[in-house]
Amino acid sequence: MAGTIYKKPILFAVVVTVVVLIGTIVMMVYPMLTPQMHPKLQNLKPYTALQLAGRDVYQEEGCFYCHTQTVRPLKAEVMRYGEYSKAGEFAYDQPFLWGSKRTGPDLARIGGKYTDKWHYKHFNDPRKLFQGSNMPSYGWLADHPVNPKEVEARMKALGFPYTKEDTDVLADKTKLDALVAYMQAIGTAVPRKPKPPMIAKGDTNPLATDPNAIAEGKKIYEMNCAACHGVDAKGDIGPELTDKEWVYVMESVGDDTVFFMIADGTKKDQEFEGRKAKGGMPSWGEFFGKKKIWSPFRI
Ligand code: HEC
Ligand code: HEC
Repeated sequence: MAGTIYKKPILFAVVVTVVVLIGTIVMMVYPMLTPQMHPKLQNLKPYTALQLAGRDVYQEEGCFYCHTQTVRPLKAEVMRYGEYSKAGEFAYDQPFLWGSKRTGPDLARIGGKYTDKWHYKHFNDPRKLFQGSNMPSYGWLADHPVNPKEVEARMKALGFPYTKEDTDVLADKTKLDALVAYMQAIGTAVPRKPKPPMIAKGDTNPLATDPNAIAEGKKIYEMNCAACHGVDAKGDIGPELTDKEWVYVMESVGDDTVFFMIADGTKKDQEFEGRKAKGGMPSWGEFFGKKKIWSPFRI
């Protein structure tokens, strides 16, 4: 009896197919229908109308050809970009935009990293902020209004909650506004861990009189800082740096304070030696090591 099924090829094929199918359903299809396979971080919110419109611009413009949106759990990546990506972050990303190539940096933790103003300036002309950047300029997006009807249709199709007020907001918005709003939303459901400080409080500049460091500082300034503080450091978007008016008060501040302002940037109302900053200075700690930050920017 035992050998008979092996002599009936058609019956054998049917039985094998059924057995394999049962295995597939139990091992693959069933788990896919359980909630554990669709994790969602507790404070993850669906995109707003404007953010969703920005996400569409991101796809239209193919930003994912040059940027990834996922930080791998590797030490070097976490040090550079921040907390590694969690499965529960992408519940509203349909489709996800992880990308696979990093011509530019990863954007998984870009939300809140810079001010809106920084993004407008960067999109208008990336080379103003990073000399030699090969990212295209996207200033022209400001001439293209967002189409509220289209966004409404997409929100419905994706099952996002929306009200008329949500889409009314879009009336005078451009694709550039939408893209900036989207940038500020990316990856914000994961709380940011503060980075350990790079130097101790009270440290003084060990390179203050080092001629090599002064030459290096001049180069760093021209490449990265002149766009906002002016070629002659007399001020533009950022304040003058040749005077002693640190954080807008006629008084000098400690070397450590200047270091922290450059390494971590400034936020509105953040206090530096009792003075309130206006915000808008980006952070450079992830691009430059200690030595570069200490290199004096004598212009
Ligand atoms: C040809 C490749 C390329 C394309 C396409 C591109 N970028 Fe970039 N991007 C870069 C490079 C290189 C950098 C790093 C230098 C710089 O900031 O300009 C960068 C930097 C950035 C940054 C700053 C990241 C940081 O952490 O400092 C943002 C934000 C950004 N890109 C967004 C976008 C968006 C949005 C799009 C699509 C509209 C886009 N990029 C398209 C190459 C590209
Ligand atoms: C995107 C524009 C931008 C770039 C690029 C930039 N800064 Fe700033 N910076 C600012 C702004 C805006 C402020 C004022 C910050 C505040 O009030 O919170 C500032 C403040 C500062 C201060 C404090 C000045 C004071 O008077 O108290 C220092 C020091 C400084 N920047 C150094 C640098 C260096 C060095 C670089 C290059 C590595 C640089 N900045 C690049 C915008 C910029």
